Order: sequence, then C-alpha cells, then structure tokens
Amino acid sequence: MNPVQEQFSNHAKEYNSNNIIQQIVSKALAREIEGTPKRILELGCGSGQVFKNIDFDFSYYKAIDFSKEMCQIHPKHKNLEILCIDFDSQEFHNNIKNEKYDLVLSSSALQWSKNLEKIVSTLSNVCDTINMVLFTSNTFKTIFKLSGTKSPILSLKEIKKSFDKFYTCEYEVLNYNLEFENKKELFDYIKNSGVSGEKNTLSFKKAKQLYKNYPLGYLEFEVVFIKGKNI
Ligand SMILES: C[S@@+](CC[C@H](N)C(=O)[O-])C[C@H]1O[C@@H](n2cnc3c(N)ncnc32)[C@H](O)[C@@H]1O
Repeated sequence: MNPVQEQFSNHAKEYNSNNIIQQIVSKALAREIEGTPKRILELGCGSGQVFKNIDFDFSYYKAIDFSKEMCQIHPKHKNLEILCIDFDSQEFHNNIKNEKYDLVLSSSALQWSKNLEKIVSTLSNVCDTINMVLFTSNTFKTIFKLSGTKSPILSLKEIKKSFDKFYTCEYEVLNYNLEFENKKELFDYIKNSGVSGEKNTLSFKKAKQLYKNYPLGYLEFEVVFIKGKNI
C-alpha cells in the first residue's frame, strides 16, 4: 500500500469528523455545478462528501478512490458505480478512455497525483467540463517552513501548469485558518485529517521541537477551485 493510501485507509472511520475544510469545499464545489449533467465522473470520492451534495437526477455516476475502506463507507445509489482504483494507474486511464462524461468532479484529492498532467490529458478526451478543488502546497505552510521540509502535495504553479495545457480555466484561490483550543488538538487534527498524507516523516526530536515552537493557534489551508472548459 502506498503511504497516502495507507493514511486514508487507516483513518477512514474517523475521517468524517476530522475533515471540516474538505466538507466546506466539497459543498461549495457541488453548489457550483451548472445545469444538470447526466453522466458524472468523480476522482478521489472518499466517503462521499461531494456525492452527498448532488441534489439532481443523473443517469450514471462513476466514483473512484484507491482506498477500499473509503469506497466501503461511500453512499450507494442505483445509478452509481464505485470503483476502487488508483487515478495514477494505467488501469484508470484504460478504464475511462472510451467513455464520455458531461462533468468530471474532484474534491481535495488530485493534489496527491504523481502525474496530474496525464490525468488531465485523459480527462480532456472524455469530458469538456471539469469542476475541481485541490489543496495546494501552501497548506500547513508554517509547519513545513519550521520543520525545513517540503510539502508532499502539488504547488499552485504545478497545478495550473497541468490544467492550462488542456482546458481553459478559471481559478479561485481561497485560504482558511482553522483555530484550535490547544496544540494537542491542532497536531491531532493533522494526523487524522488525511491532508498530511505521508506517515510521520519527522524524527521524534524534530516533531517535539515543532510542537514546542509552532507559533500559531490555527492551521493554515490553501485550496484552489478550478472550472475548466475544453479548448
Ligand atoms: C482528503 S480525501 C477527500 C475525499 C472526498 N473527495 C471529500 O471531499 O471529502 C482524498 C481522497 O483521495 C483519495 N486518493 C488519494 N490519492 C488517490 C489516488 N492516487 N487514486 C485514487 N484515490 C486517491 C484518498 O483515498 C481519499 O479518499
């Protein structure tokens, strides 16, 4: 299992109570959907935060996620197919390459992609409209700065580069600060939220220093909303 997959699978059960930011952005993403697309593809569906906010009829919805535990807790529907697959795998590209969709959605997931450009390229052949929201590497930026480590997720620049190649896009960058009563709660949130992805990569000593020196009472998040139309 890769570290991101393991992180989400280990925390699948607690995920719904530790994902306030993801819930806010997935709701906003669903609200932005124009019209009533009939065939929808969603990448990194998790426990169904986007799907739960779809309030119109569709004929087919394919939701994919590589965590079996997440797929198991996703809501079910007669027109919904849940596929436990890695969006970076060749299997995924083969699976969708002959299909057509009216809309592709993705919330808080594609920042983990190892080859975003390849995904967006494949998507541009199967769908003319995409609505996505991705975390950027500015999430937890003070933590990465203090610990001298690099965020494991994509930067805004890298994200834009991939999307601009295949779609004409509108971008909206939003910053959120999530406040905590104390440091323990703040650091527990990072562990359980699934945003940090990699398992604990800091040494115990470094982690302790970080805990002591973190100057903020809140965690920083940055997300980018992307609306793309096929060029
Ligand atoms: C932060 S959660 C977001 C879940 C959901 N979209 C939401 O808004 O709450 C990210 C999801 O992406 C999935 N994911 C991450 N990398 C993936 C990959 N390479 N292939 C498929 N799913 C992936 C994780 O398993 C996890 O369920």
